Amino acid sequence: MASNGIIDSEARNRLHKLDPNFTQNVISATGLRASPRMRKVMASLIQHLHDFARENEITVDEWMAGVELINEAGRMSTDRRNEGQLVCDVLGLESLVDEITYKLASDAKDAPTATAILGPFWREDAPARKMGETIVFGIENGDRTYMHGQVLDYRTRKPIEGAELDVWHTAPNGLYEQQDPDQPDMNLRGRFTTGKDGKYNFYCLRPTSYPIPYDGPAGKLLQLLDRHPMRPGHIHFIVTAPGYKPIVTQIFDRSDKHITDDAVFAVKDSLVVDFLPYKGDPNADFELPYDFRLASYDDASKEFSSWDG
Ligand code: BEZ
Ligand code: FE
Repeated sequence: MASNGIIDSEARNRLHKLDPNFTQNVISATGLRASPRMRKVMASLIQHLHDFARENEITVDEWMAGVELINEAGRMSTDRRNEGQLVCDVLGLESLVDEITYKLASDAKDAPTATAILGPFWREDAPARKMGETIVFGIENGDRTYMHGQVLDYRTRKPIEGAELDVWHTAPNGLYEQQDPDQPDMNLRGRFTTGKDGKYNFYCLRPTSYPIPYDGPAGKLLQLLDRHPMRPGHIHFIVTAPGYKPIVTQIFDRSDKHITDDAVFAVKDSLVVDFLPYKGDPNADFELPYDFRLASYDDASKEFSSWDG
């Protein structure tokens, strides 16, 4: 305050920014042509960001460190690596948003198969393979696994014809093929389409735990938070069928030592599976029976109100 009792402009600015009305001023700057959703979501984001900065007395240096982290994530991202997504993953945001989007597709036994995050390693146009084929090429080690089951309508329990399973997982060295020049293109990936009986089967590997890429901002965050980068062994799927709501999911090996501390918080109870010893098949040491349950669009819109589309 100046000696004459009038608040000088520096003090007024300081008050202004810390005054809770400042936040409302920023929110109110939104123009009339902003969409209702944008208006609502951004007002909430601004409010939370400002509250966060005030509550934690974030300094300019700390804010700039955050900006740098975002910028670095942008610089590192390519069509083969999505570092922004990875940063969200280690903060649990992709898993949370997945849960919100599909919040009524619960872990219950009679519900549609639960969803799990897509992660950054899915590739479009994985090769279509014949039922019963392998997705493993040029890899000698690893536990060969025969995976099989049915794609079913979750309500009627009837098999779904023409369902497509798009599957992908890592090699025993913990790398997806696009991260590893020594693997053939599209290795450990494939798309399988069910016939009338809704059945599918193929050979894969029992997946190993692996570290998410930690040589960038996501890794830096993990280090600053004294956390490890490991994910429990899992196999990814996108299951689609005409007339049915697609699901993006993963199944997890119960015996993996990281089953309870996934670096990206994606494990759900109903997605945890047992690999069983398998005798009498020269191509596999383990068997993995698993059925996928889909909801028709009709059922999804009636019973799972948050499933739009
Ligand atoms: C994955 O499972 O492929 C994955 C998910 C989140 C971050 C990194 C990898
Ligand atoms: Fe993965």
